[in-house]
Amino acid sequence: MPFMTLSKATLVLFAASLILLLTQHVKAHSYADCIDWRFKDPKKPSWSDKHGACFGYARRFPLKAKPFAKLDSDNPNRHYQQSHKNPDPNHSLPCSDGRQGEEPGADETMANPISAAYNGKDKHGRKTGVQTVSKAGEKLCIRWPAKNHAVPSEKNQPVTIALSKVNPKKDPTQLQFLDNIIAELNYKNCTDKSKDTDIWSCGDCFKLPTNLKPGNVVMQWRWKLNSNEFYTSCADIKIEPPSITAPTVDIPSKTTSTFHTPTSASSASSASSAPSTSQIPSSASSALSASPTSASASPIAFSV
Ligand SMILES: *[C@@H]1O[C@H](CO)[C@@H](O)[C@H](O)[C@H]1NC(C)=O
Ligand SMILES: *[C@@H]1O[C@H](CO)[C@@H](O)[C@H](O)[C@H]1NC(C)=O
Repeated sequence: MPFMTLSKATLVLFAASLILLLTQHVKAHSYADCIDWRFKDPKKPSWSDKHGACFGYARRFPLKAKPFAKLDSDNPNRHYQQSHKNPDPNHSLPCSDGRQGEEPGADETMANPISAAYNGKDKHGRKTGVQTVSKAGEKLCIRWPAKNHAVPSEKNQPVTIALSKVNPKKDPTQLQFLDNIIAELNYKNCTDKSKDTDIWSCGDCFKLPTNLKPGNVVMQWRWKLNSNEFYTSCADIKIEPPSITAPTVDIPSKTTSTFHTPTSASSASSASSAPSTSQIPSSASSALSASPTSASASPIAFSV
């Protein structure tokens, strides 16, 4: 009898620890850790803290609350699993409100003003990350923790990146996001793979559409783990106007002639018209067509 009770107790203990282990494993889910990751050395790109830095975050992202990859055990946990039946995940809440979903997650709804979700304090008084600032056509690199799901035995399930329209009044619905998926990323693109497969750092890069107008867009990171099982993170990206120099040089002298002609005229005469007058003594049209010739001619003119 004592043996029986002991083995029963052992069994219960074993079952309890197994359940604990399983629950911990179940909770190991990913989220967008950084929206604008920049590599220290672009020739040796790596997603680890040692080899890069983050310049833009998801909404109300608590900086330094936990080490990398551990925000799924924050309070509330960072990862948000969308409801499976709403009637399906395509209709569920796209950005966690901290209440809905299979696993509610932290509040990542749109702030009013948008900037209030950045560079401030969260509910616990912890400093939150800055907003991502970018431009149409620019590349963004997003980082996430593997959370044990980048190992060879796991299927490589995609991460999709979707955008709202510019300056929306509220968050798009999930269906609206699905209508504007701009990139599919490689979940298993991880570096610095240590023994602890939970904390592998992973990420991937994509380009923003070239036709984006300046303003704020909502970006959704959405990772599919199993069919019907999706995790999301939401961030606002501030799209700045294209840099001033490129378009003003492209559109010369019509309306802004008084301001721009001096510089463009002097640079044009010093660069192209000087060789072209000596070699090809003719009009502006020949200077355009002969620009490769004049470029190759000028070193010769200097060396002779
Ligand atoms: C959800 O949306 C995706 C992409 O538009 C589609 O492939 C999938 O069939 C949809 N799922 C359901 C249950 O409607
Ligand atoms: C994967 O990660 C590397 C950095 O390690 C990055 O340069 C690259 O763009 C990512 N994407 C792919 C598809 O390799």
